[in-house]
Amino acid sequence: AAKSVQAQDLKQSGLLLAYPPMKIEGAESLLPGSFLYFSYPTSRDAAVLMRTPEGQYAAYSRKCAHLGCSVDFNVARGCLVCPCHQGAYDARTGLVIFGPPPRPLDPIVLQMQAGGEVWAVGKGLGRNSNSA
Ligand code: FES
Repeated sequence: AAKSVQAQDLKQSGLLLAYPPMKIEGAESLLPGSFLYFSYPTSRDAAVLMRTPEGQYAAYSRKCAHLGCSVDFNVARGCLVCPCHQGAYDARTGLVIFGPPPRPLDPIVLQMQAGGEVWAVGKGLGRNSNSA
């Protein structure tokens, strides 16, 4: 079954910020290898939900950690790319793989519900795993 490891990881590292839970519309019909855009926690907070080829969900804020442009999912490269200065992030981990962003994207914490529904329940702080 598809499961998200994000929520547990974030609780363990203490970086979880809780927001009101929200069902992500259309997530249950998202095919492995595809993605959709949504907003969370407010309508002004652009986010992206991706499903890996293995069926695992991952979601991130689209706000680039460099100067705040909105990153796009690049299907050909399979990563999240910022149009402003070509910063690129790993789609599975949110980690920076190219360009000027100083830290990872902020992860959206997901919770799986019955019927394949995917809910956003919080947001983490994207920090480099090697920073204090
Ligand atoms: Fe995204 Fe500069 S704002 S790379």
